[in-house]
Formats: sequence, structure tokens, C-alpha cells
Amino acid sequence: MTPKHSRRQFLKNTAKGTFSLMAMSAVPLSLTACNDLENINTSAMANLGPLEELKTGPFPKKVDYVVTIEDGWITQERSGFVFIQLEEKNNEMMIMSPICTHLGCTASFAKEEQIKNGVTFFCPCHGGQYDEFGNNIGGPPPRPLDLFQPFIKDGNVYIPVLSPTERNV
Ligand code: FES
Repeated sequence: MTPKHSRRQFLKNTAKGTFSLMAMSAVPLSLTACNDLENINTSAMANLGPLEELKTGPFPKKVDYVVTIEDGWITQERSGFVFIQLEEKNNEMMIMSPICTHLGCTASFAKEEQIKNGVTFFCPCHGGQYDEFGNNIGGPPPRPLDLFQPFIKDGNVYIPVLSPTERNV
């Protein structure tokens, strides 16, 4: 079995619900997540890496990923990234999508002078501003950055890249 094939098989297993077996309570750091897979597209799960590394600051931090997406007979590899923040009050790790909630451009870390004004993430398309927890604080974005529900397998954190979750505000 080639590495690519075994990876494909892994993703297929994932789609069959392997992730529903994971016990979130077993992880040392709680995550902003649930195990409800009903509304989650698990056909494209990206491995963000070991939880032990991800829970280490400084926060917020950018974490890159590469994911294989299978749609019918088309398989494509896509790269992306997320922002990870530690919500200290509840000791929860937030995994945020960088996709701006205005019109879908990609937000990045703010520049020095913007940070002085409380902006952590900035969308260059129309000047969208978000604070360190991804809350929209300026410009046209109508809501905070979306979150990914994480799933743990063998100590690694996976996210369903096609199914970010809107926050209730
Ligand atoms: S798309 Fe980000 S501010 Fe418009």
C-alpha cells in the first residue's frame, strides 16, 4: 500500500465516523468542541499536529495544514492555516478560521500599529478588524471569525476544513 493510498484509506475511515469514538474529556486541555458529527462534513479532515505542541504558546498562533479532499473521482491537495488561541478563563483552545466573515478574503496577523489599537487579525480587502479572540471589532465583518470543532486521534488534533462553525453572538 502506497503512503498516498493509506492516507486515502485513513480519510475514508474518517468519513465513516472514526472520529466519533474520540473522547474529548480525555485530553489535558479542554477544547471548544463537541463530538456531534451530524452537521459536520468529515470527508476532509486536516491534521494540525500533536495536541501537546498545539497547546503550547505563545498565543494566538498560526498553524499551517495540508489536507486531501476527495470529491467523487477528484482528489485534490489543499493547503491552509488556522489561528489558535487559548481562552484562559475556561482553559479552552479556540481554533479559528482565517476566512473573513465579510466576503471571504483571508485575514492575517495585524501590523504593529494596528496591534496597538487592539487589532490582532486584519483583513486587507475592506479593512476588517478582529481582536485576539477573533471578535469583529472594526470594518464591515458582521460576526467573529468562525471556529473549527477539533477532534483528537492518536494525540493529534484534526479539524473538518469544509465545515467551520459560526459562533453564536
Ligand atoms: S472580505 Fe474581509 S473586510 Fe471585506
